[in-house]
Amino acid sequence: MATGELAGKTALVTGASSGIGRAFAQLLAARGANLVVVARRQAELDRLAAEVTAKHQVKVEVIALDLSNPAAPAELHARTEGAGTAIDILINNAGFGTHQYFLEQPWDKVREQLQLNMISLTELSHRFGAAMAQRGRGHLLNVASIGAYTPCPTYATYSAGKAYVRDFTEALAHELAPRGVRVCCLCPGGTESEFHQVAGQTVPGWMRAVAFMSADKCARIGLRALFGWRRNVVSGISNKIGMWFLRFIPRRMIVWIGARSMGQPRLAAPAAPAAPAAPAAKADGA
Ligand SMILES: NC(=O)c1ccc[n+]([C@@H]2O[C@H](COP(=O)([O-])OP(=O)(O)OC[C@H]3O[C@@H](n4cnc5c(N)ncnc54)[C@H](OP(=O)(O)O)[C@@H]3O)[C@@H](O)[C@H]2O)c1
Repeated sequence: MATGELAGKTALVTGASSGIGRAFAQLLAARGANLVVVARRQAELDRLAAEVTAKHQVKVEVIALDLSNPAAPAELHARTEGAGTAIDILINNAGFGTHQYFLEQPWDKVREQLQLNMISLTELSHRFGAAMAQRGRGHLLNVASIGAYTPCPTYATYSAGKAYVRDFTEALAHELAPRGVRVCCLCPGGTESEFHQVAGQTVPGWMRAVAFMSADKCARIGLRALFGWRRNVVSGISNKIGMWFLRFIPRRMIVWIGARSMGQPRLAAPAAPAAPAAPAAKADGA
């Protein structure tokens, strides 16, 4: 039997198979919450489920789902709220970036990213937010990024998408507060996870050492803000100071700083030039 202040509650964490999402799931289970964990990699979710049930005696439901599929949010809602599992805490964490120039990315990859990072997150907020508002209580945390503060060349759609998440979440927090639902946005800076490997970005070791925090610390900051009625939190003091100073910097310079700090992406190999056409053989052999 689980103990802790969240015993009897159920938390749904998207992107729980690694990084910050995995840390959210571990921390919520440690506080007694039952879990619904979602991502594409079933084996990683099963491993997490085995670990937290053994350690904290909570119930864990594993749902392997590709949230970049437009039908996935409705399916997730049907398999939880629709099947009688009330979700008290929703952590919209799943997301990815691609370290690449906009035009060098295949359109399908861009569409997949926008669908996952923005549309699915919004639909999940809508579906689960409605159920929470109806019950007059609930907690909803959307994970953005410090990229939400800086238009960022080589992460153009990612940072723009995260700006959307931040603005949307703060507005939703205002709307849902009178209905008993606490809504918060977490803006992490560099965090140890699979994010940069997935994005195809090589981060220098010195930068990891100086500027990165652990996924556990980042998730703790997010939960403290969510349960503390905060509407937006930037992870870590140096990120907070950096984001505060941005308000005094001309926007064009912010874009330049963003471009400099991300570095050059590994460009996709240019397409091989077409081989010159062989002269057509003449039928008469001349
Ligand atoms: N790490 C950073 O420096 C950093 C900084 C700012 C913001 N963030 C944000 O933090 C959040 C968590 O990222 P992370 O750093 O923990 O990276 P991560 O280790 O790569 O985790 C991303 C999670 O999202 C899941 N995911 C990706 N595509 C999915 C899909 N189509 N459907 C369902 N789940 C999917 C992944 O699981 P599967 O692969 O198993 O599907 C994984 O569990 C993201 O929203 C990211 O944008 C991270």
